Amino acid sequence: MKRRDWIKLSAITGIGLTFAQRTIARSVYHSFPQNELNSDDFGPNFIWGAACAAYQVEGAWNQDGKGKSIWDTFTHKRGNIHNNQNGDQACGFYHNYEEDIALAASLNLDVFRFSISWSRIFPSGEKTINPDGVQFYHNVINTCHSYNIEPWITLYHWDLPQALQDKGGWTNRDILKWFSQYVDFCTKEYGTKVKNWMVMNEPAAFVGLGYMLGYHAPGEKGPLNFLKASHHACLAMADGGRIIRTNVEGANVGTTFSCSHVDTHKGKPRHAKAVRRIDALVNRLYIEPSLGLGYPYDGFPALKKIENYFEEGDEERLIFDFDFIGLQNYFRIVGKKSVWPPLVWAKEVPAKKRDVPMNEMDFEVYPEGMYKILKQFAEYKQIKKIIVTENGVCYEDHLQDGKVHDSKRIQFYKDYLKNILKAKNEGVPVDGYLVWSLTDNFEWSEGYEPRFGLIYIDFATQKRYIKDSGLWFKKFLEK
Ligand code: NOJ
Repeated sequence: MKRRDWIKLSAITGIGLTFAQRTIARSVYHSFPQNELNSDDFGPNFIWGAACAAYQVEGAWNQDGKGKSIWDTFTHKRGNIHNNQNGDQACGFYHNYEEDIALAASLNLDVFRFSISWSRIFPSGEKTINPDGVQFYHNVINTCHSYNIEPWITLYHWDLPQALQDKGGWTNRDILKWFSQYVDFCTKEYGTKVKNWMVMNEPAAFVGLGYMLGYHAPGEKGPLNFLKASHHACLAMADGGRIIRTNVEGANVGTTFSCSHVDTHKGKPRHAKAVRRIDALVNRLYIEPSLGLGYPYDGFPALKKIENYFEEGDEERLIFDFDFIGLQNYFRIVGKKSVWPPLVWAKEVPAKKRDVPMNEMDFEVYPEGMYKILKQFAEYKQIKKIIVTENGVCYEDHLQDGKVHDSKRIQFYKDYLKNILKAKNEGVPVDGYLVWSLTDNFEWSEGYEPRFGLIYIDFATQKRYIKDSGLWFKKFLEK
């Protein structure tokens, strides 16, 4: 036990100490800065890692037999992405994976989370397998193991094979069959080497942005698309969970959700109902069916229309008992009622209009939001364990003499981690933290400008530089 822990224990319990010794121990303990952050405080089983996603890092979009994904199509169309950028090359992870995994290990991380590109395995989405693509993920997994890093795999991080989108993608109920085939293949292929699986990444984001607002691939719009795709995503999530559990002995099965604490604009009661609708859409819609609670009609009655897409047995089929829930938090939402858009009748008051700290994407930096959303999720008694599978920040970075002095990012991590620790100490079952992201990468519609990495990438030369925030983590996690 470290000296600090010994003093803390003695100060709190007084075990084995006289009254005078106890008083001294307490005063010594309290003289330690109370806001000092120590990774040991999170407990010996807490998992520390970093995350990324196939399309955002791999590049090699058409190499070695890979098929097209909806993100290849979407980014190649002018006007969809900031500066018409695309992920054709991205971080070149397809070729540089060894270097990146070695860098993750050098930062003392235990876990590397990455996703599989469905169209690298099944170029046309189903049936025919691409052996080179299959081999690539074996190489990534083996490299993780060689560095003593635990691979955590996300099966779906938004890059649907284009061939399946041509048949309707997530709005076609056949997606359940296609997705099951893909999950079945991957978990049989890699399941002896990989135990930690996440079925999906943020269904609210890929359905909301991709099938309702048209801001992400495949660029579809409209409430009917949204309801259909949402229902199919929820079913596929539970189906995927069952397949992993069947195929992988000793699996740790999870899935991830984007979520944000929602506050009422200026605390005014007249916005309360609007805020409940936002909360239902953002935080409850995708998780509650899997917990056996059904869709959150109480928060958003118009959602009832989703039942138009139900088939017999769906209520049961939506339920799956995940081993862990991946919680991903980037900002808080402040909401108010509004005459637009219809059905929702609510809107967000953007951070820009609230004079609050923001990141480069105008997300509010609000560390207490992490604590509040963890507490909100801990209210679900069905959740056994929470892993923060993403949290991070994009600030403007400057590379000077091979260094990036990103002190604001370090402060961000300290503040968010303190809030996680506070929730944990109050009994929230949070057991891990994965930084978004290991390296700078392709930030979807925003292109390469927002940099989230612990490692800076010079995209022109593909050279990597560990930022000060990466070095901070290295020290923080030193054993
Ligand atoms: C969540 C998504 O999973 C990830 O792909 C994205 O880059 C981050 N949010 C940052 O916006």
